[in-house]
Amino acid sequence: MLKNNLVKKILSTFFIVGSLALGAKEYIASGEGYNGSIQVKVEVENKAIKNIEVVKHEESNFTKRAMKTISEEIIANQSLDVDNVAGATYTSEGLKSAVGKAVAMAGVTLKKLDKSIVKNEELKDISTDVVVVGGGGAGLSAAIAANENGAKVILLEKMAMVGGNTNYATGGINAANTDLQKKLGIEDSEELFYQDTMKGGKNLNNKSLVKKMTDESKNAVSWLIEKGTDLTEVSFSGGQSVKRIHRPTGGKAVGPVIVDALNSTLEKKGIEIRTNSEVVKILKKDGKITGVVVKKGDKQYEISAKAVVMATGGFGANPEMVTKYNPALEGFGSTNNPAITGEGIKLVVDAGGALIDMKEIQTHPTVVHNKSDMITESVRGEGAILVNRDGQRFINELETRDVVSKAELSQKGKSAFLVFDQGVRENLSAINGYVKKGLTVQADTLEELAKKIGVNSVELTKTLNKYNEFVKNKEDLDFAKKGLPRAIVTGPFYAIEVSPAIHHTMGGVHINDRTEVLGEDGKVIEGLYAAGEITGGVHGANRIGGNAVTDIVVFGKIAGENSANFIKK
Ligand code: FUM
Repeated sequence: MLKNNLVKKILSTFFIVGSLALGAKEYIASGEGYNGSIQVKVEVENKAIKNIEVVKHEESNFTKRAMKTISEEIIANQSLDVDNVAGATYTSEGLKSAVGKAVAMAGVTLKKLDKSIVKNEELKDISTDVVVVGGGGAGLSAAIAANENGAKVILLEKMAMVGGNTNYATGGINAANTDLQKKLGIEDSEELFYQDTMKGGKNLNNKSLVKKMTDESKNAVSWLIEKGTDLTEVSFSGGQSVKRIHRPTGGKAVGPVIVDALNSTLEKKGIEIRTNSEVVKILKKDGKITGVVVKKGDKQYEISAKAVVMATGGFGANPEMVTKYNPALEGFGSTNNPAITGEGIKLVVDAGGALIDMKEIQTHPTVVHNKSDMITESVRGEGAILVNRDGQRFINELETRDVVSKAELSQKGKSAFLVFDQGVRENLSAINGYVKKGLTVQADTLEELAKKIGVNSVELTKTLNKYNEFVKNKEDLDFAKKGLPRAIVTGPFYAIEVSPAIHHTMGGVHINDRTEVLGEDGKVIEGLYAAGEITGGVHGANRIGGNAVTDIVVFGKIAGENSANFIKK
């Protein structure tokens, strides 16, 4: 059996498919991507790669564009020495490795790439109705909504694929009073969601933005479902009074599911997406927006448009900007996509836009210690606890992120261990990804787990026994945690050492609840809209987990609708 599997694996790893046109041959080979194997069919003729087709893969659909870009670059340069697509490193490496194996079979030696000969396509000035800058969840939502309201739209993304930080979103989307909550008997209201959001944000939030977001949240969920997003479960997340975070079946990471659904919608509607296209200037004449300047490779061109929607995200991956606005965060790691560097914010300022709340930067409390992998709050929502090096709980695990982060930093070693069992894992498939990436310590018994992580086993067992009693009696007598979904009793047991890292920048461009950008004088800049993490005010001093996705979809959609209506004036 084992031998058969080995033979199958070798056969599927690389083999010649057959002859094509005179002299051309196809070779099939596989490489390891993020979720599993990527199989490619490479056509070789006269010792050169003619075509690369990805035959099978288990990657998220949003990486299709990254795979296409890499394949085109390999062919154009006849080299594997092309850059990985940021945010899709494993996919890029897996694809290049598969192509490398195929060409080795063909006896072709590829060259080392001289980057100076990479060609740029000719790019001409053009015009459209609405330009959307940024292809994360807010930009994708804006582009669809603008198109549905009759506008001709071009979406520009500086990276090689769409998705931005949304590709990294795991937990879910908060929404109140949804059909799903009603079906599950969860009593919630827009008002309660509003109160939780204001309390989490220490009342620094802009009230009219929070009102709009919480009122529109249920429509955002229905809209996403209409566009093909799987949102079938509701759970707890930090700072929420009731189960409100909506997520895909089995607790799959929400971001890739949303990006896949929205990206497919754009493709179906024929909305133009230009990747590797960075906006370097917003054009303005007589106080009105007139378009943008786009940089692609070493060339620049202009797109004229009456309305521009800025949806380029925050600045969580730009340490200089982070420390400029909040010096206390110097040296912190970041959970953000490397693209999230804040240039869009600077462009809006150059166009006259005002900024608010820039020093309000959130750390996420469960990021793998000394790494950038975020462990979703949903792990705690499903029942995981946090213990310190003495094996003791020290905080309500579902407190807001600022509170949990601060509590962790005051423990010995400035980190803590997230501890859970197989029961939690089976209710949240996102955990399978953490196990696969080697982020978890695993053991059959609690004693063994304690030994592996260097925590006193008698103390850890005592803590778990006490906690399991709280779950049985439905009351956490130590920290008053509300969500107590299950006891931690079923092996194998898991632990992950975690500490806080930069996660969300709450400050940004000042907008009103129509997503119009405001200048320093509080007046609207005609034709300029912004949505998502580029904006400030929605989350106040601290964002509630699950509210980022609500923010990007609600305000992305509003920006699309209003920009499309603006150009009709
Ligand atoms: O923990 C998380 O899954 C993060 C969610 C969020 O930032 O909203």
